[in-house]
This record gives sequence, structure tokens and C-alpha cells, in this order.
Amino acid sequence: MSYSGTKGSNALLQSTLVDDFNRPVDYVRIAVTSSCNLRCSYCMREDHKETADTESLLKIRDINTIIDVLAGLGVTKIRFTGGEPLLRKDIVELVRQAKTHTGIKTVSLTTNGLLLDRFLPALIDAGLDSLNFSIDTLDDNRYRAITRREEFKRVRENLDMLLKTDAISVKLNVVLMRDINSDELQRFVDFTKDHSVTVRFIELQPFDDNQIWRTGKFFSADKIRALLQSYYPDLNPVRGYATEYFSYTQPDHKGSIAIIPAFTRNFCTGCNKIRITSNGQIISCLYEKKGINLLPILRGNAPHSALIELFRQAVSQKPQDGKHTLNNSVRTSMSEIGG
Ligand code: 5AD
Ligand code: SF4
Repeated sequence: MSYSGTKGSNALLQSTLVDDFNRPVDYVRIAVTSSCNLRCSYCMREDHKETADTESLLKIRDINTIIDVLAGLGVTKIRFTGGEPLLRKDIVELVRQAKTHTGIKTVSLTTNGLLLDRFLPALIDAGLDSLNFSIDTLDDNRYRAITRREEFKRVRENLDMLLKTDAISVKLNVVLMRDINSDELQRFVDFTKDHSVTVRFIELQPFDDNQIWRTGKFFSADKIRALLQSYYPDLNPVRGYATEYFSYTQPDHKGSIAIIPAFTRNFCTGCNKIRITSNGQIISCLYEKKGINLLPILRGNAPHSALIELFRQAVSQKPQDGKHTLNNSVRTSMSEIGG
């Protein structure tokens, strides 16, 4: 697809997405639903109601058109998130079709794993490249307290099933919280002994309707690092990707360990992504509240050039430093945008 944009100084830049601070955007996270089958206390209120607006939920056709346009703009990496993306009955088909677009190199998924037994073989067959599995505790009672659901057994079994396959790259997402699960760090690191997974310890972020955040459970990346180094003095620092600010390998372990300072550090310098919400808003920055609505143009039979214009507009709205310029519009939950 060719397009003569007004920005960019050469032909290559004109056909790709580059923001006003020269950051190329080649990664798009698409929330395919805002519904979830858990109610993690740092994410949703216990009485969270699923949206009744099914009309504005992105359909598979919408998502395919979006990916087609983005692939033409140089996007190479798609991540499906939620809510919980496995709640979409067409998730396998979404992955399969995303993989067919020329230029899309990796298709990944972030899931809480509860429904993985139903989908894993089909997802692998559809070409899924990598999967992030969110699990914050290995203790049944704690799992119930954090997620407010009685689902630990199934999730734990699904994790074991996932660890047995080496067909896709696997990361475990662990939000570490003081007095809640910070004493489980070693149990999670143990997974890296025999499996080539990356265990990622994530700082709590204040996107939770101010529930847990206000109760002093924040556990900083510096504390996580100190704890890790005290337990594992032989850790080798390795170069982490993008948000994996601190990455380590432990001698004789197959996997690796990362810390994501989601709150204390600012990743803006290397930011290469935009997000799309499940109701079709382009969000150019995590700290931005109001996106650009794709739906009228997407469903109005407008030419692709009109959609391209919207993506360019969104990318040009990316602030140099979102946390500091847009912070007063902090969102109340990650579930709309998939983390
Ligand atoms: N702080 C940190 N991580 C969060 N996630 C959701 N809400 C928060 C929050 N307030 C994480 C989930 C999952 C990813 C999609 O986002 O645990 O790993
Ligand atoms: Fe669901 Fe993920 Fe939010 Fe937990 S953090 S309630 S699994 S969307």
C-alpha cells in the first residue's frame, strides 16, 4: 500500500508510522473484549458490570481491516489482549487471519489462562507466536483473594499444560504486591529452572479504581531487584526488550527473569506502540484517556486512505512523555486497553 503523507522526509517514512519525536510505531495491541472471567482486585471493582454495548465491539471483519491497514503502514507485531481475549469465541480465527497479513511477523496474546485448555492446540495451529500468561500467586487462597474467583485449580493445570509445550514462546506476568505475594518470588523463579519461560515481575500501577493502590501494596522494582539479587547472587544481567527494563539469567536455568518497572520508570523514549480498545478507539498513549474513534470510518465503507489518516493522526498525538504530560487523566482500569 502506498500513501503520500504530509510528514516524513523520504519515501520510506511516508509509508510507515513515525511519530513527531521520530519514534517508529510497529507494534499494536488490540483489546478484543473488555469482558473478563476474573475480577483481579488491582484491575476491576468486584461489582464490575460487563458492557452491554455489543454493537460497538470490534467484529472479526473490523479487526482484519485494521490489521490490513496497519500492516501496510509497517506494523509488524500484533498483540491481542482484553479483558480476557479467550472469551472471544473467534479468537483462534483472529490469530489465524492476523498471521496471513504480509508484514505481520508476530502475533501474541496476553491471557489469564483460565480457558487455555480449550484453545491452546488450536492457537498454536493457527500460528500464535507467543503467549503471556498472567498469574500472580501459586497459592489457592491467595488466588481467590486476588481474583475474587474460585478458579485456581484450572488455571494452575493450564499453566502446567502450557509449560509442557515448546511450540511457542511463553512469559509469565506476575504483578508483585507487598504482603500479598512478594514472598512468592522464588517459587516463580523456580519455573525458569526447567522451562525456557521468562518470568516477569511487574510493578503495580494505579489503574484500579484506587482500591489496592491506596492500601500501600506497591512493591517497587528496586525492591524486587534487591530481593532477587539477595536470593540469587549469581544472576547475570542481560539486555531486556523494551519494557523489560531489568532482565537476568540465572546459571543453569533454562528461562530468564525480568522486572517491569511499570510505575517507577518511564518507557516513553523507546515507545513503539499504540493500542486499540475493544470498541474501536485508537489510544496513542497509556496515559491518554480519550482515543480516536475508528468505528464510523471503519464501518462506513470509507477507503483505506481514510483509516490511514486516523492512524497517522493518532500517532502524531503521541506525547513525548505521557506520564508527565497526561498524568491527570489516569484511567481506572487496564481492562479496556489490555495493559
Ligand atoms: N497494575 C499492574 N499490572 C496490571 N495489569 C492489569 N492491571 C494492572 C495494574 N493495575 C496486568 C495484568 C496482566 C496485564 C495484561 O496487565 O496482570 O498481566
Ligand atoms: Fe481480568 Fe486481566 Fe483485569 Fe484480572 S487483570 S480482571 S485477568 S483483565
